[in-house]
Amino acid sequence: MKTSLNEKVFKKILSSLQTGKKEYIRISSAHLSGISYLNIGDAGLEFLEDLSKSGLRFRVKTTINPGCVDFDSPTECETEVFEKQKKIVNSLKTMGAIESLTCTPYLLDNIVKKGQRIAWAESSAVLYANSIIGAHTNKEGSLTALASAILGYTARSGIHLRKGRRPEIFFEYQGELNDELDYGLLGYAIGLKAEAKTPYLRLTNTHDLHLTYLKQLLASFGTSGSAPLVWIEGVTPGFSKVRKPGRKIVLDRHELEKVRKMLSEELPSNSSEKPVFVTGCPHYSLEEIENLSRILNNVKKLSVEAWVFTSRSVYSEALRKRLLRGLYERNVKLFKDSCVMYCGLKRRNAYVITNSVKAAYYLRNSFRLRTALKSFAEFVNTYGV
Ligand code: F3S
Repeated sequence: MKTSLNEKVFKKILSSLQTGKKEYIRISSAHLSGISYLNIGDAGLEFLEDLSKSGLRFRVKTTINPGCVDFDSPTECETEVFEKQKKIVNSLKTMGAIESLTCTPYLLDNIVKKGQRIAWAESSAVLYANSIIGAHTNKEGSLTALASAILGYTARSGIHLRKGRRPEIFFEYQGELNDELDYGLLGYAIGLKAEAKTPYLRLTNTHDLHLTYLKQLLASFGTSGSAPLVWIEGVTPGFSKVRKPGRKIVLDRHELEKVRKMLSEELPSNSSEKPVFVTGCPHYSLEEIENLSRILNNVKKLSVEAWVFTSRSVYSEALRKRLLRGLYERNVKLFKDSCVMYCGLKRRNAYVITNSVKAAYYLRNSFRLRTALKSFAEFVNTYGV
């Protein structure tokens, strides 16, 4: 009885999303956010424990976002936080979730295909799934993604309708984009101007659009804008068939510098404070860890710690490929299971240097840390010895 009552509640959550007729579509994959104890606290933990005890189970493949601890480093965070994060994950596992603990499920843990209907939360993963892979997911909230995982369907609205995928503003960036940070700054600048509208983006003078750049562009777009899709010319499946919007905004480096000033402050030169470099927002892929190793081969050591966040699946691959030792020797620490909103970082109250615009935004606004934005190459030039 309790199960059917709960299902009714979740159906209500989904139907509240409907703007017109009540219609649903089947999904084959879900990804849940809102699982960090630092965000959802005791109320969220109790809610998830109640749900798992009620007997509700996920009907589709379901992965979960990172939490706030690394389960292999129990002493980095307060015991209570560590234990409560574990309980949250256990409740979700009982309901059938894969213990992926990553914001890049599309890399290894929850691979989806073009045209697949899915219900994902986590804006950076939603934007990647829609804009790079060509899957279809709205930017689900924590509760609607949970409802979809339980019911196996989502509301037929937004991106699941042809009209919901149409680009609405044309952006053209004129100039060079030199590194991952430039792409992140551009994504944030576009999000500020587009707000809820879906952009069509043309990049001029860009030759090498690899994964790192696209991840940074989309993650920071998802931080300042709210559309679930960016049409990237030459990249997004079907881009050549969509009608380009009439309204056009041209951006140049000036816009990137404005964003940098908003989220970045330099450490005073006379400061004795030791900063920490944070990277892996969104979580690193194996290729990104390999690239990091290659760059660090040119230095003996870093004079400040670099903290790299990745998924447990990618971490295991990096371990298998024997990439980790060289990184540890150079002052790099790898973390898995956790977001950059990591309990150990909050506890340390450090001055953070990061190459991720999204990380800078949240570390400043949620953890109240001071942040400076630098590309990984800039960081190594300054702190490599
Ligand atoms: Fe991932 Fe956390 Fe960044 S969920 S995208 S590491 S803010």
